[in-house]
Amino acid sequence: MRAALYAPGLGYYTAGATKLGHGGDFVTAPELSSFFGAALADAFRPMAPRQVLELGAGTGKLAEDFLAAFSERDSVPRYEILEVSADLRQRQEERLRKRNVAWREAMPERIDGLVLANEVLDAVPCEIVRYAAGRYEQGRVARAAAGDNGFAWHWHPLSDGPLFDAARARIPPMEGYTTEVNLEAEALVATLAERLSGDGAICFIDYGFPRRGYYVDDRAAGTLACHFQHRAHFDPLILPGLQDITAHVDFTAMAEAAVDAGAGVICYATQAQFLLAADMLSRLQAHDFATDVERFAATGAIQKLLAPSEMGELFKVLVVGKAGAVDRLQNLARIDQSYRL
Ligand SMILES: C[S@@+](CC[C@H](N)C(=O)[O-])C[C@H]1O[C@@H](n2cnc3c(N)ncnc32)[C@H](O)[C@@H]1O
Repeated sequence: MRAALYAPGLGYYTAGATKLGHGGDFVTAPELSSFFGAALADAFRPMAPRQVLELGAGTGKLAEDFLAAFSERDSVPRYEILEVSADLRQRQEERLRKRNVAWREAMPERIDGLVLANEVLDAVPCEIVRYAAGRYEQGRVARAAAGDNGFAWHWHPLSDGPLFDAARARIPPMEGYTTEVNLEAEALVATLAERLSGDGAICFIDYGFPRRGYYVDDRAAGTLACHFQHRAHFDPLILPGLQDITAHVDFTAMAEAAVDAGAGVICYATQAQFLLAADMLSRLQAHDFATDVERFAATGAIQKLLAPSEMGELFKVLVVGKAGAVDRLQNLARIDQSYRL
């Protein structure tokens, strides 16, 4: 997954594929509607962040909408982007050249203010683990037989180490059960939480479940999925570097990683609950559309963000933060459902 997505010059995110948007392979929430970024600005306005760090900023749409909504009422925070994809960074620079945005080469040692990460954790390379013949095994990818251009799974028994511990604690010992464990995403969350200043908060938005809804008996083939030209399928060994590969997020693991690193959970909610609490519908009502066609298009996109059968329930929002942010984000604490984690 790391090579297929991030190998310099060859990976899906590093070799210049279109990726996001209607001409690419998938569409994300900020691309669907400007009301998404505006709702995030409204949700975090009480925190009055002096600084925002966005991870994996896609086409820069979220940054644009967030900053536009912030500037309506408050002084605009300094906005920084940490982007691993050179061509996405170029798209962001073109879109945001009139805004006060800077790009970082590495994660700062100390993070002030707010961190935003929409659909980033699902793109962090995960491990594949299965339970077979009474033991846990790790899936690795190797070239298929000599003369064959393809790739094949090789299974290696796990007997100790963090991956084995996580597998034994989380994955049901059901013959053939195959799923993902994302230790790298947990490490990323831990690093962010460790470096967060005393009034900072981090907002992760992604598709996924709490652990008890993730490793259920019914989901015996895991959640790893591939996206190519708006079609989803489940074979990560084809089209290397040309298709997106992604896994759902175990939000319990992410919350645990943040708490172990000294942050607290401020809010865990579905995307629909979060966006409604941020008063997205009032913004929609108040918006002055030039034509009915525009109004219908905007309403349709918001329906997609909120509907339980679309993104409203599968996507979750996890906000973690230090003590200073907990006090200021009482608006989000009100909708917190972290008891589900
Ligand atoms: C599915 S795209 C989402 C893009 C954008 N946030 C959006 O919602 O449209 C995933 C993004 O996460 C980035 N990414 C993955 N791992 C990252 C990391 N460790 N730090 C920063 N960005 C990362 C990828 O380069 C890519 O831009």
